[in-house]
Amino acid sequence: MITTKVVSLNKMINMSNQREFDIIVWGASGFTGRLVAEYLFNNYGVDQTIKWAMGGRSQTKLEKVRAEVADNSVPLVIADSQDEESLNAMTQRTKVVCTTVGPYAKYGSKLVHSCISNQTDYCDLAGEVQWMRRMIDHHHEAASLNGTKIVHTCGFDSIPSDMGVYFVQKEAKARTGQPAKEIKMRVRAMKGEMSGGTYASLNNVMKEASNDKSIYKILLNPYGLNPEGEQSGPDKRDLQSVVYDKTSKSWIFPFVMAGINTKVVRRSNALMGYPYGEEFRYEEAMMSGKGLSGRIKGLTAAAALGVMMLAKPGSLIKKGVDMVLPKPGEGPNKTKREAGFYNLKFFAELENGRKAVGVVTGDMDPGYGSTSKMLAESALCLAKDNLPKIGGMLTPSVAMGDALLKRLEENAGLSFSINF
Ligand SMILES: NC(=O)c1ccc[n+]([C@@H]2O[C@H](COP(=O)([O-])OP(=O)(O)OC[C@H]3O[C@@H](n4cnc5c(N)ncnc54)[C@H](OP(=O)(O)O)[C@@H]3O)[C@@H](O)[C@H]2O)c1
Repeated sequence: MITTKVVSLNKMINMSNQREFDIIVWGASGFTGRLVAEYLFNNYGVDQTIKWAMGGRSQTKLEKVRAEVADNSVPLVIADSQDEESLNAMTQRTKVVCTTVGPYAKYGSKLVHSCISNQTDYCDLAGEVQWMRRMIDHHHEAASLNGTKIVHTCGFDSIPSDMGVYFVQKEAKARTGQPAKEIKMRVRAMKGEMSGGTYASLNNVMKEASNDKSIYKILLNPYGLNPEGEQSGPDKRDLQSVVYDKTSKSWIFPFVMAGINTKVVRRSNALMGYPYGEEFRYEEAMMSGKGLSGRIKGLTAAAALGVMMLAKPGSLIKKGVDMVLPKPGEGPNKTKREAGFYNLKFFAELENGRKAVGVVTGDMDPGYGSTSKMLAESALCLAKDNLPKIGGMLTPSVAMGDALLKRLEENAGLSFSINF
């Protein structure tokens, strides 16, 4: 049995070394995909250190976007999410598929299957917990056996959280010999907007959950992405209200990404065999400042979030929200992306009663400017770096660890620091 696994892994390594491309950016005609393609073209060129192509379902749209963000030297690859033959033809040509074709629950399942069948590594921007759970249940075993890395959440959700905790724990162990017992991530400041594709993905999660109540159980379980049999622990549900937080000395309110990020961090801990400890606690929230103004700001932001997330499909409120928010293909322009940023604080409680504060910053808007750089660097990391020889439905820190940390700091405009 063990011999079979080793043989198939070696075969895979040989196979993937001979591929025509290192990376295909699939979804390059969409809002985020074109940013990824633009980033690769501007920073890595074509056929120099990496061989890459732009992918999508429409030749005409791809040609148009290619003319805007790159040039004719970038090859185009056509594949439709519902056409398995076209997906297999695509995944057989490349070492890595980097996909921004979402909502992933609608368009992503066959691609994941095709990547594993053809031993092609994969990264995406999925934040759809119910879909990731399905993919884990269906594919983790096969991907671990044949050594294919499938890595969801390679954007703002959840790289800064997952890699932030990875970084803080690494530093804590180096300094004290022990991991932190608890980390509270607080969004200190953030500036950015949503795209139509992300709003469509959020809507799809809520729609699926209202049709299938078992999805709520997954969304509400803090350990909803953990391996089977390991879905309980000391953490409770994410923050649901506006409260004063002594740790950050600020009012805090719910963070829209917490439901994804915290589960990814817990899955990382579980997949690595609990290097943060089995009793490790992790939570996330947004800071709104001190005093009455901090409280009012928190209440207002929480109310707006509640309306966006909980308005019933078909209701007048929902129609109003749909009118205000962008449509698929739309999102913040270059000026807004460049004016954006984020600053996340990681308050860590160490074993011996000592404390440390980690900080992760990003130099562009979280959702698109920074996300497209994080996704592109993840794809490059999977294609080019010397990574642990493991496969499965992995998280960014488990699949790419230190190699990704280095790329994020050197190339993607993120910084990681810590004070003890
Ligand atoms: N995690 C994060 O931080 C983060 C940040 C940004 C975005 N996202 C996620 O990324 C995804 C994309 O967002 P976006 O704003 O870029 O969306 P978008 O502009 O709507 O782009 C979607 C892409 O999917 C393609 N597509 C749709 N149906 C397809 C099919 N049947 N076969 C092949 N391709 C198909 C579209 O191609 P056409 O052009 O031909 O229609 C387009 O290229 C969403 O799921 C969003 O939630 C996550």
